Amino acid sequence: MEISQLQCAHEEHYGVQPTVIAFAPGRINLIGEHTDYNGGFVMPAAIDRGIWVTASVTDGPTSLWSSITGDGVTFDARTVEPGSVDGWASYAAGMAWVLRDPIGNCPNIVGTVHSNLPMGSGVSSSAAMEMVFGQIWAALADKKLDPKQLAILGQKCENKFVGVNCGVMDQMASSCGREGNAVFIDTRTLEIQLAPIPKDLSIVLCDTKKPRALTDSAYNERRSQCEAASSVLGVKELRDANMEMLLDAKPNLDPIVFRRARHVITENSRTLEFQIALANNDREAMQALLRGSHTSLRDDYEVSCFELDAMAEAALTSPGCVGARMTGAGFGGACVALVETQWVLEFGESASAAYKAKTDIDPEIIACKPVKGAHILWQA
Ligand code: GLA
Repeated sequence: MEISQLQCAHEEHYGVQPTVIAFAPGRINLIGEHTDYNGGFVMPAAIDRGIWVTASVTDGPTSLWSSITGDGVTFDARTVEPGSVDGWASYAAGMAWVLRDPIGNCPNIVGTVHSNLPMGSGVSSSAAMEMVFGQIWAALADKKLDPKQLAILGQKCENKFVGVNCGVMDQMASSCGREGNAVFIDTRTLEIQLAPIPKDLSIVLCDTKKPRALTDSAYNERRSQCEAASSVLGVKELRDANMEMLLDAKPNLDPIVFRRARHVITENSRTLEFQIALANNDREAMQALLRGSHTSLRDDYEVSCFELDAMAEAALTSPGCVGARMTGAGFGGACVALVETQWVLEFGESASAAYKAKTDIDPEIIACKPVKGAHILWQA
């Protein structure tokens, strides 16, 4: 969105000019799924779709208006506590709450929120909300926060304020993304290595339009199963286990817990191998690894669904497709496909038609550019 458009929306709503405008991107994960809460490896990219926020300081209380939902919300940023705000504004309120520790009370603001992220498709609008409000409040308090620090605060906001027990991947991707690159992240150390996307390859989001369901309860159940496996294996996190250890412990493991752990262990290896395959533009290896990831998420981790399987298959049989798999938490949402750039249009038409034929749902296929992470776009 243009800065002038954003300024107008703010002025129309509040009768004053904004003093700061920020943007935070959504993310798409190439590989490394359900590994981040096991201390493992992930490889997401920040995408050229996200959330914009305009803000100006007010004597108070904070008042936010969303052009996505058309509704407004009010809370006091200086005193807000968990449990007092819900819905989309809980991410904004939660960031004010979580920032109290490192930077002190956040000023109350009036603000507008705009987004072009597809909703419910698993591209992390929640992390983008956290990162964009983190940027806004830090800028208004005249404090500089490291993008990694902001990501950790965002995760804390989501865990402790919003009440979702997520890992740190989404916030890291939205905060630390780099133009033209995916980011390989060691979620234990938060060390980042850039993973350039070859010029002739495009990252394509294939949204099944099947809204995600039961995500929170099933997600928390997977987390507990991973913890149960770690404790039987005698490791801190599944990041510290390998297949040999898992097979040795098999007799003492519940069969479901065994399969959950096998997914995490093999997914960590696939993510490490994918980093090399991408650097070498080795398409055969990339295809095998993406396929392996999808199969493991479907059979061992059991977070896929009919629509995600249909979409992965539709993508794989479409022109120029190097590889495809479900992306994000699962239970609906989207697949990610790597597609030869010259075939992107034909790919979209073919994948849409094949998916619709199987599911009777019109999907949305979006070619994404990797962009830089959350930042201030403009400040008075
Ligand atoms: C959600 C969570 C992330 C991560 C993914 C699965 O997006 O927010 O932390 O666990 O699911 O890889």
